[in-house]
Amino acid sequence: MHPAITPRGSRVASWSVVLTSLVLVARYAYSRAGKRGEYPALLGNPAAAARRIRRGEEEYDFDEYDVVVVGGGTAGCVLAARLSEDPSIRVLLLEAGESSVENTFAIVPAAYSKLFHTQWDWELFTVPQTDADSQVRYWPRAKLLGGCTCMNALIFHIGAPEDFDEWVRLQKGQPGAEQWAFKEFNNYIKKFETFHSSTDYPQVDSSLRGTSGPVQTGHFGHVSKGTRKFIDACAKVGLARSSDVNTHRGTMGVTKASTSRFLLTFISPNGRRVTTESAYLTSEVLARKNLKVITHAHVTRILFDKSGPMPRAVGVEFSHGKGQKFRVKAKKEVVVSSGAVHSPQILMLSGVGPGDHLTAHGIPVVADLAGVGSHLMDHIVIDLNFRDKTNSSLACLKGESFAHSLSFMKALFEYRMSGRGPLSSNVAEAIGFVRSDDPALFPPSEYPERNYEDTSSGPGAPDIEVFYTPTGYLKHGMVSMGPQHYFAVHGVLLRPTSTGTIRLKSADPHEPPVIDPKYLSTEHDVAVLVRTARLLARIANTQPLASMLDPVGKDDALLDHTFHELDEAAVAEAVRRKAETLYHPACTARMAPKDEGGVVDPFLRVHGIPNLRVVDASVFPTIVSGHTAAPTIAVAEKAADLIKAAISASRLRSSA
Ligand SMILES: Cc1cc2nc3c(=O)[nH]c(=O)nc-3n(C[C@H](O)[C@H](O)[C@H](O)COP(=O)(O)OP(=O)(O)OC[C@H]3O[C@@H](n4cnc5c(N)ncnc54)[C@H](O)[C@@H]3O)c2cc1C
Ligand SMILES: *[C@@H]1O[C@H](CO)[C@@H](O)[C@H](O)[C@H]1NC(C)=O
Repeated sequence: MHPAITPRGSRVASWSVVLTSLVLVARYAYSRAGKRGEYPALLGNPAAAARRIRRGEEEYDFDEYDVVVVGGGTAGCVLAARLSEDPSIRVLLLEAGESSVENTFAIVPAAYSKLFHTQWDWELFTVPQTDADSQVRYWPRAKLLGGCTCMNALIFHIGAPEDFDEWVRLQKGQPGAEQWAFKEFNNYIKKFETFHSSTDYPQVDSSLRGTSGPVQTGHFGHVSKGTRKFIDACAKVGLARSSDVNTHRGTMGVTKASTSRFLLTFISPNGRRVTTESAYLTSEVLARKNLKVITHAHVTRILFDKSGPMPRAVGVEFSHGKGQKFRVKAKKEVVVSSGAVHSPQILMLSGVGPGDHLTAHGIPVVADLAGVGSHLMDHIVIDLNFRDKTNSSLACLKGESFAHSLSFMKALFEYRMSGRGPLSSNVAEAIGFVRSDDPALFPPSEYPERNYEDTSSGPGAPDIEVFYTPTGYLKHGMVSMGPQHYFAVHGVLLRPTSTGTIRLKSADPHEPPVIDPKYLSTEHDVAVLVRTARLLARIANTQPLASMLDPVGKDDALLDHTFHELDEAAVAEAVRRKAETLYHPACTARMAPKDEGGVVDPFLRVHGIPNLRVVDASVFPTIVSGHTAAPTIAVAEKAADLIKAAISASRLRSSA
């Protein structure tokens, strides 16, 4: 931890007021949602759906499904619901966490950071980042049905259309590559969405949005006063307004720079967070006879039959409660959907991964695949925090003073009555996209010649994102800055060239893997973030946002009121110190040819093991230039169609 960053003040007392009130409001508001325990498909007791393993038992005589999905997160819930639409496919979904639909912090939009460091978080950390001030970094990951859609910042963004055309190029002509082109893939984005238009945002062309999918999107949420000032300041600096950053027209608009509160959120019309559990595992879906969902089921390995010419996935082993072990059989397919950290870990524990690494841990190799856990990519964010003298922040949500607790009560009342107000804020209320080679934003007179590669996915796609929060935070909110009002501007490196790894710490499936994103290990990444940070400082010091700056902030070492005075080298140093995750790890089981470090083919099948698929953010061939939840949901929608087609083809073959 940097010496300047030390905790201040105690938050415990007012915290309990905030927490208790939140629990009460959600209990009340959503008591109609129904108890999860009522649904026959959702099982707390695995013995009803799986075979307990006794000592020494090795035969494959256990409960049988057609498809077993490992991980009930963002992608897993989509798969379970879509696959079980076909009553002839018996589906089992295994999730290490519990249901999220009655969890207050996974319901009230502004409450998501309250899930950090709890039983609903995997509590992961990177190894010390050599090129980023040698600090470890905290990586929140939800351990809940619905996965990170229960914990994320609710921004609905699909990336740039060019991102998906790039996915096709990276397949180097493998069969099936073309189906990922944006023109095709966009059908799956639309398939999951029901867009609610708003008279406040008439610019959005709703004919380009989805109309009948399970996931509700719209402009729901809160817009703070500072958010509008941020958008106006961005316009002055040269980021033109854009009405919708989510269409085939691209994210940036004609000026190649845009900013928008007109961002869409995963928030329902009544102000509730939309997760893939709440959207896909509805009571109707959970009533299906061919679907079982087991929670608190920690998958420890995939089982293979190695007697044929190619290994076949035949089942899955999981633990439940205090060391009880269970097995289930997958007749057709096993699908790994445990996210970019745990999917590669489970593959490696099962013998699928870099041969030398597996052997070193005493794991018999089923398939030697160097790409598993390699090519880890993530988005880094730089946060600049400022004191807000207009008192227009979301400080009341922090509950760090008595006055805030009072305004919190007011916010609670508003949320209860209308689903609106500060509690419905997704916190990151406005986003914008720019290119680091835009001469209007980075004039050659002020910036050294750009001698690094253009990593954007195309000329119309960005490599930098900026966003605004009507609150400040350090270390994901774990370090208190005090009860005053703050705002912050943030910049994201969308197209890094640093890539890292997920590796096993040990062969123990309950030990977290070694996470090393190798942040800022290339000059490119530092150079783009230096431009990003300087742009952020400029926006903060531009009117009308600048009018919010409280001069007392100048004397606070935790704040960035003097950031714009730093020289190039000092900004680079600050970037290395400030770099944090924007929570988008991806690409650790990427879709690419095997000799290019790929793990899955364009049908998401693991190379060499045709009935084992990976479906989640790990399969991204490279990271999208936007947020990762929507592309992950669309990947899962597409995968469900691929799996259904494969199962009906195999049935046709066996009946012929
Ligand atoms: C704090 C935060 C903010 C974010 N903000 C945004 C945003 O605003 N917009 C956006 O688009 N994206 C955002 N993201 C990123 C986005 O939510 C994720 O990229 C996406 O949800 C990942 O989906 P996934 O299916 O790959 O993994 P997950 O959703 O993480 O699903 C993996 C699931 O597998 C389970 N699992 C893991 N190991 C095992 C095991 N051994 N056995 C059984 N189950 C297991 C996990 O519990 C989890 O439920 C954010 C993420 C975080 C954490
Ligand atoms: C903001 O709050 C502080 C402390 O309560 C108060 O002194 C100040 O006058 C307020 N400013 C505005 C603009 O309301």
